[in-house]
Amino acid sequence: MITKGKFIVFEGTDGSGKSTQMRLLSSYLQERGVACALTHEPTTSPFGMLLRDCMGGRTETSEYAIAAMFAADRLDHIENPVNGMKKQLFEGVTVLCDRYYFSSFAYNGGIVPLGWVEELNRPAMELLRPDLVVYLDLTPEEGMRRIARRSERERYETLERQRKTREKYFEVFEKYKDLEHIVIVESEKEIEQTQAQIRAAADALFGF
Ligand code: TYD
Repeated sequence: MITKGKFIVFEGTDGSGKSTQMRLLSSYLQERGVACALTHEPTTSPFGMLLRDCMGGRTETSEYAIAAMFAADRLDHIENPVNGMKKQLFEGVTVLCDRYYFSSFAYNGGIVPLGWVEELNRPAMELLRPDLVVYLDLTPEEGMRRIARRSERERYETLERQRKTREKYFEVFEKYKDLEHIVIVESEKEIEQTQAQIRAAADALFGF
């Protein structure tokens, strides 16, 4: 019997298909008797809503403030006594989270100094490390094609930014490869093919 939930994080540049793949993995795990919860960052808390305004260009602020707000939103997401992720994990629920501190390293750490962003996220790294990080890899060009089909554009959604962010992801994955369990999955083919690779990583994690 599973007594403590697993913490699985999905990362990737914009348009990489995280939410679709997370939903599919959640159904797969639930069919195998694993209780799952889906969540994302930025969250829907007051911290996350403020971030969404900044990302959507409705509120102007500094890139340093944005990086700090993402770290604050994350700490609330981890520790909130009512609905925080640690509480759910402790209750035995497996949590699938769309973005976590690697998003801060790759996005914000490509704009303000990475070392500072890592410091800001040190408490999160100490409080809650993922059991598995799934990175959905996509070329920046394909990412932009997928984003173009959506209605609203966000702050970091340009080809140049997609390129930089992807490079930064690979730079930090190399740096953290001995500390973190990171699986890189190609996300440019059929949804089912991508999902099969993710399920293989989950099977190994749960011992199915
Ligand atoms: P995203 O997952 O694209 O949310 P949605 O699909 O609901 O718009 O995340 C929004 C943006 O926030 C995305 O461009 C990445 C950025 N972001 C950071 O810059 N730092 C972070 O720490 C996180 C979690 C996200």
